[in-house]
This record gives sequence, C-alpha cells and structure tokens, in this order.
Amino acid sequence: MTFLTLTVADCLKKSSQLNDISDSPRLDIEIFLAHILQKDRTYLFTWPEKELTEEQMNQFNLFFSRRLAGEPVAHIIGQREFWSLPLTVNSSTLIPRPDTELLVEAVLGLFAEDDEKKSRRLLDLGTGTGAIVLALANEKKSWQCTGVDKEIAAVELAEKNRAKFKLDNVRILQSDWFASLTSEGSFDIIVGNPPYIDPADEHLTQGDVRFEPLSALIADKKGLADLEYIITHSPKYLTPTGFLLVEHGHDQGAAVRDLFTANHFDDINTFRDFGRNERVTVGKLNAS
Ligand SMILES: C[S@@+](CC[C@H](N)C(=O)[O-])C[C@H]1O[C@@H](n2cnc3c(N)ncnc32)[C@H](O)[C@@H]1O
Repeated sequence: MTFLTLTVADCLKKSSQLNDISDSPRLDIEIFLAHILQKDRTYLFTWPEKELTEEQMNQFNLFFSRRLAGEPVAHIIGQREFWSLPLTVNSSTLIPRPDTELLVEAVLGLFAEDDEKKSRRLLDLGTGTGAIVLALANEKKSWQCTGVDKEIAAVELAEKNRAKFKLDNVRILQSDWFASLTSEGSFDIIVGNPPYIDPADEHLTQGDVRFEPLSALIADKKGLADLEYIITHSPKYLTPTGFLLVEHGHDQGAAVRDLFTANHFDDINTFRDFGRNERVTVGKLNAS
C-alpha cells in the first residue's frame, strides 16, 4: 500500500490550522516535530525537506489532532522544560510556567554569597512536578531539599522527576501543607507556588488550564486561602531568620505583603514577572 509522505515543511505549514487554538501555533508544531524526530528545533530549519517515516507521520497526526482538540502541548509530548530540566508532566498537577523561574532566581539571589559547600535546608510546598525544588537542588548540591504535595499522583510524578535527574539531595513527601513535617524550626528557606486563582475567574474555562486539575489552581477567599495558610504557618517551620518566598497572582501583591507583615516578616520585597506583573514576594522572618 502506498501512502502520502509528509516532509518537515509540510508539517510546519499545518500550523495555520491551530491559529484559533494556540497563541504559538508554529512553535507547537516545531516542538512536536523535534520530539518525534528526537532532534533540536534548529534541525527543522536545516532539513525542511526531510520526509517523516510512516510511524513518525502517524505520531505527528495523532499529536496534531490532540492539539486541535485543545490539549496542552506539554501533556501531548509528556514533557516541559523548566530551568533547563526536561520535566515529565501529566494531568495530576500544574504544567510548570516560565514565570515560576522568577522564584528560583530570587532564591538563588538571596544566597549568591554562600560558599559552594554551605548547607541549607529548603522546603517546597505544593511541589507538583517538582519544578522548583529540583531546579534549586540541581543548582545547590550541598542543600538538603524537601518537596511536598497533597496529591499522591503529583508526589509520584515529582519522585519520578527526582530520580530522572538523580538528585539525591531531595526527598519528596505526601503532605497536606506542613501536616507530615516533624522538623519544626529547621528550614532556612520555605518556597511555594500554591493554588491562587479565584474559583470564579473566567480564565479557568479557557486554554491550557482546562486540562489542569483544580487542586493545583484554585483557592478560597478569592484565591488567597492557601497563601494565607502558608504565610501564617511558615514561621513555626523556619529558622529564626529564615526566608519565605511565594508566587501569587498579579493582583495579590498588596494582600500578600500585608500577610507577611502580620506574621513577623521583615525585608519584604515583591518581584515582577516578564509581563511586569507582581508575581513573587519574599520576606525574612524576624523571630526575635
Ligand atoms: C500551582 S501548583 C504548583 C506546582 C509546582 N510547584 C509549580 O510551580 O509548577 C500547586 C500545587 O499545590 C498542590 N497542593 C494543593 N493543595 C495542597 C495542600 N493542601 N498541601 C500540599 N500541596 C497542595 C497541588 O496538588 C499542586 O501540585
């Protein structure tokens, strides 16, 4: 039986059919092709006339139809890069966002003067894929890091990613925020990107978030409930001058800073994301 062949260029031309689905149709197709051909994206520009095998075409057609149905690219290929780590992703938790790299950068900035061997203890609340804790543990091999998540499927996913990158300085636990932690007063740094979307937010019915679990997205009190819980309870688990850093919504900066102030944090500072929105707030505990 003969079949119609598809070249790389033919596949790329199909990107216009994704215009209504995606903000980045061309990039979506490039990511599919790079994944299927196991090449980087520059290969696609060098070899536009490369013909796909029948198996590769079948895979491409399947990926393409799933994307046409709105499924996120990261779920289709099962992977998303975060801080240069190709993380395995699935529908149990959030697909890591580029904006969250700001939180990683902010933590590293606080300890830029540390000696390479300096040991620190870090806790990541709501670790999901493990994005934040694995990025930091990979940068700081002398740190002892813990990532927790309430959802067992997310815990399994984060552990799978931990093993993939052979990060022995990380442990992943199932925990409802601090509930499974016995090490009170011992973390130098607590970080978290908790659910912070208002359940009434209309964006929940649009785009990629439709395929992500509400357990990773929404929180009561217009999205502030989990942030409030974390900021209120972190002082008990931090060293007397430990740091807390949380990601939050673009319109939650003032409320989050007030919560930091009310819970004995000093040196409170909010960082803005690529879109100039307030996104990550840091404070240093003043337990004296
Ligand atoms: C916004 S996602 C962040 C995932 C990951 N840290 C990231 O930045 O990509 C929030 C995560 O918090 C977890 N979570 C929600 N409620 C929790 C709770 N009570 N205790 C622990 N984790 C929780 C969710 O399962 C989800 O994985």
